[in-house]
Amino acid sequence: MIRRKGQIFRLETPHTTLVIKADTAEYLYYGKKLVSSGDFEACYGLPCKLLSQFGQDDYTEPSILLENADGGCSTAFHFSRCKILAEKPEIPGLPSSYGAGKTLELKYVDVPTKVALYIYYTVFDDSDVIAVSSKLVNASKKELRVRRLASLQLDLLGDYSVVTFEGTWARERQKISRTINKGVFYNDSKKGASSHNRNPFVMAEGKDGVYAFNLVYSGNHKEIFEGCESGRMRVLTGINDFMFRWTLAPGEQFDAPEAVMCYAPDEDGISSEMHAFIGEHIVRGKWKKRERPVLVNNWEGTYFDFDEEKILSIARAAKKTGVELFVLDDGWFGNRCDDHRALGDWYDNVEKTGGGLKHLADKIREIGLDFGIWVEPEMINEDSDLFRTHPNFAMRVPGREPTRMRWQLCLNLADEKVQNYVVRVISDVIARSGASYVKWDYNRALTDPFGKGIPQGEYFHRYILGYYSIVSRITKKFPFVLFEGCAGGGGRFDLGNLCFFQQYWTSDDTDARERLKIQDGTSYGYPQTTMGAHVSACPNHQTGDSNPLETRFNIACGGVLGYELDMTKLSDEEMDVVSRQIEFYKEYRKVLQFGDFYRLGNAFGENVAGFMSVSKDKSTAIAVVTVYDYIIAGPALTVKFKGLNPSAVYEVTTREQANYKNVLSFTAGGDLLMQGNISLRDIYEDTQSWTNSKRLYARMFIFKKVK
Ligand code: GLA
Repeated sequence: MIRRKGQIFRLETPHTTLVIKADTAEYLYYGKKLVSSGDFEACYGLPCKLLSQFGQDDYTEPSILLENADGGCSTAFHFSRCKILAEKPEIPGLPSSYGAGKTLELKYVDVPTKVALYIYYTVFDDSDVIAVSSKLVNASKKELRVRRLASLQLDLLGDYSVVTFEGTWARERQKISRTINKGVFYNDSKKGASSHNRNPFVMAEGKDGVYAFNLVYSGNHKEIFEGCESGRMRVLTGINDFMFRWTLAPGEQFDAPEAVMCYAPDEDGISSEMHAFIGEHIVRGKWKKRERPVLVNNWEGTYFDFDEEKILSIARAAKKTGVELFVLDDGWFGNRCDDHRALGDWYDNVEKTGGGLKHLADKIREIGLDFGIWVEPEMINEDSDLFRTHPNFAMRVPGREPTRMRWQLCLNLADEKVQNYVVRVISDVIARSGASYVKWDYNRALTDPFGKGIPQGEYFHRYILGYYSIVSRITKKFPFVLFEGCAGGGGRFDLGNLCFFQQYWTSDDTDARERLKIQDGTSYGYPQTTMGAHVSACPNHQTGDSNPLETRFNIACGGVLGYELDMTKLSDEEMDVVSRQIEFYKEYRKVLQFGDFYRLGNAFGENVAGFMSVSKDKSTAIAVVTVYDYIIAGPALTVKFKGLNPSAVYEVTTREQANYKNVLSFTAGGDLLMQGNISLRDIYEDTQSWTNSKRLYARMFIFKKVK
């Protein structure tokens, strides 16, 4: 809801209030919901602005930086008008959130050049997350250049710790907190993708609560935090201005991607709002609210070494355990016998598939599993027919040796011809295989960003616009297909992608101990329904560490469950364990995938960690509690559960595991379970079977409301 009094707009979400003074571009208040109806004069003149520019007396990082036709960069955007829109405007060429709500449109004009800046704030009826975006319209008669256009500027008062989610391949989204009282800190990506290294989801934590920000964008991004002498902390988020310079001809407009922001009293509040917002206003399509199938993926089971019989034998074994979907990973096309060749050749390798993709897919469906397929459409190997026939499709700088990563180059998606080619060939793969699931991979970052005729400063963004054009066309063509994004694991896990792909492969690291942290870090900004999580072989292929099959399952229940190993190699006993796991998972799938998600303990810094999913009516919940290290004669191990109904009584049991038969069972009040210290007294019970020290101890608790 948006209420107006003169130039003052009061944007109300269920639990927060944002007050904007449009004519002076000021924020008067943002935080916990105001319930009274007084005026806001008391807050006039605070140094909290929603817009800042070069050449004015604001020396903090600007939200907008233009290069005018005369070469000067000064601008003075002044208020022109404002409107409340009943429909949220779409952002041309870019994904954005959707749903019922109201939008405030503010217009500011730089009078000498007539350039107009529009800023939009959307409040949804059911969410505390506010969507913000900006657009520039060049109404002048001269060309200008955009050097920076932040999607969102928020000025806060006070001291804040900035929380970011950083890492690398196989170690994504590790939570890091820094106190930034004064000075400038930024979190960014220059890799052409939102990156494994620095996710665009960030938080500012102060004594009044937590502010969180994210960007609906998959390319180079930058989140700036500047603490000033005035006591102000400026937050800017948007496209990275590194190597960015966009020419805007007279009459043209430039749209910055949408940013989202949220206030909540604490981190749990932020996560719960972000999760609900993503589930309702970002993820779309037929799979939005549908329970996701349990899949088996052959990648870690076979890598490139498979034939029809191998694939079918895994599928048959998987079927016996209750798996619902078979995903054929890399290696089914062209001459793809290893990762040196064939990317781009999206025609069937008849030998490896035993007669073509449709043939193999049909056989898998005959076994009783759905069929899913892996593709990596944005890439090309130099050893491929595509490269031999269309070398100019590759991204590279003419006359220079390209940088290869995993022996592959990127396609120049900024070129419309290449976009159309990708749409055509990938649509054909999906159509001819009848796949009900597609894993869309992207296994290297951009280097040698160059396209003939494309200004260097526009390249990165034009790549992403090309990418969005492709994925939007393909996902629209196949509305019944479940799409899972992937980027060498979770290298492009962002809200832009989640507008097209209902889930994302969280990380190439499937080691339980590492995964716990990766999933925990991811869960601050993203719901469990979007996180692909697989049980893989032991010892783990990434770390070499060993964890019991049950521990691997417990951790994979923190996302959308899958298995990624050669199931034909499992013993009868292990097959039995997997069957019981899947049976259990299906029984509680709705709670696990769509329940309210909470983190337990502290995965970054304490010995006890875990997660918990609670049904909307709080009658059922599942928790996984983990302990990292066995400390001899160490402190008591306890946990406090979350999200339960404090006045209800629950029957609590632990799931019987193959390595843990001594099932606990007790009843306790929701308040005690959340406020008391709940003992993890026998979590080390299977110590006799230890094979290494780098293992994780995990138990699953089931809560059922009895009173
Ligand atoms: C990436 C993905 C893996 C797998 C391989 C195939 O690394 O993250 O899951 O699909 O590519 O080459």
